[in-house]
Amino acid sequence: MKSDKRANLHFDSRAVYLPPDEASKSINPPIFMSSSFQYDADIYQQVIDGERKAVNIYGRCGNPSEYQFEEQMMMIEGADACLATASGMAAISVTLLGLLKGGDHVVCDWTTYSSTHEMLDHRYTDYSIETTFVDTADAAAVRAAIRPNTKVIYFETIANPTMKVSAIPPLVEIATQSGAILVCDNTFASPYVARPLEWGVDIVVESATKFIGGHSDALGGAICMKSDRLPDDFLEQIRWNTMVKLGSPLAPFNAWLLLRGIQTLSVRVQRQCQSTAKLATYFESHPAIGKVWYPGLSSHPQHEIAKAQMPEFGGMLTFEVSDADAALRVLDNLELACFAASLGGVRTTTQIPASMAFLDVPEQQRQAMNIADGMIRVSTGLEDVDDLIADFDAALTKI
Ligand SMILES: Cc1ncc(COP(=O)(O)O)c(C=O)c1O
Repeated sequence: MKSDKRANLHFDSRAVYLPPDEASKSINPPIFMSSSFQYDADIYQQVIDGERKAVNIYGRCGNPSEYQFEEQMMMIEGADACLATASGMAAISVTLLGLLKGGDHVVCDWTTYSSTHEMLDHRYTDYSIETTFVDTADAAAVRAAIRPNTKVIYFETIANPTMKVSAIPPLVEIATQSGAILVCDNTFASPYVARPLEWGVDIVVESATKFIGGHSDALGGAICMKSDRLPDDFLEQIRWNTMVKLGSPLAPFNAWLLLRGIQTLSVRVQRQCQSTAKLATYFESHPAIGKVWYPGLSSHPQHEIAKAQMPEFGGMLTFEVSDADAALRVLDNLELACFAASLGGVRTTTQIPASMAFLDVPEQQRQAMNIADGMIRVSTGLEDVDDLIADFDAALTKI
């Protein structure tokens, strides 16, 4: 099928369809487990002439398995270009290092993924890149933080741990007016739940390790672009001047596992959204639970914005018990759901944001971000939701 026809299929068909392998006609993609590729006189000449992606040079510069994953990510994200990376953090680092230089300024949401926050807050300052952290759900605060040297505005579609949803149109407007590039981490939502490029975001980064791969067995990342404010070949430029130099390409076997994950993304995440909505209602009615943070609940501060931007509300929620000790007792007593870092897999995973993801953030700042010590974050898996409710119910009696 031609790629323009493919691009016009419904989301589920785009996610499942892969063109057959040209040589073998296999309907599943081959894995190119090779770090090196043989030259001949023609290929040698093409490389000398500056040809890059069209020829296979060396595994760190690109691999056909990685290119297949990039193609498929473009299909499901609605992107004009994609660059695959070794992990979600590699996608974030390559994007930011590719866009920024010393003296530049970033406006970033204050509850992004902890490593993103730490990198901008501690590490980039060593290279004279300054960041102002604001609540990106507050467009006036974003506008007030813009400086003449602001090059990037950065936020997450659904942000940890309060599942905050920032309205995208005001951020697009501020970015367009200020000349900054708008970058969005879509990991918590996944392309099934939200496709920020369709809303005018310039670059979407994904940790494919999570919902996209979906089985907690492969690390990977993707940078997806659709922007009339960046050169068409921007991702190819940063493939060569940043990703290849940082040495962070996606491994071929991981590319293959992630491609397989994409084929079941819709059915997995659809089910995860349904179960999370049911869990959210259960948690909201439980006497030991204070607050529940899920964009699908009418009590969520950005419920109306979420409704406008996403057809479903995702597979992640957070609830609050009295304190950190109570949170630990609940998680330690779960038998079906597991107490583990990461998210987006077929198993339900839980963690304590204040002492895990946000350990580095001082307590006063955590409170300002609404991060309570007794918060428990849940990434809902594919278990039967009634069994999950029974598991949480039993664990909650141990508080
Ligand atoms: C929102 C978000 N972005 C990025 C990352 C980094 O992804 P990876 O672990 O694949 O580097 C994570 C990891 O948990 C995350 O939660």
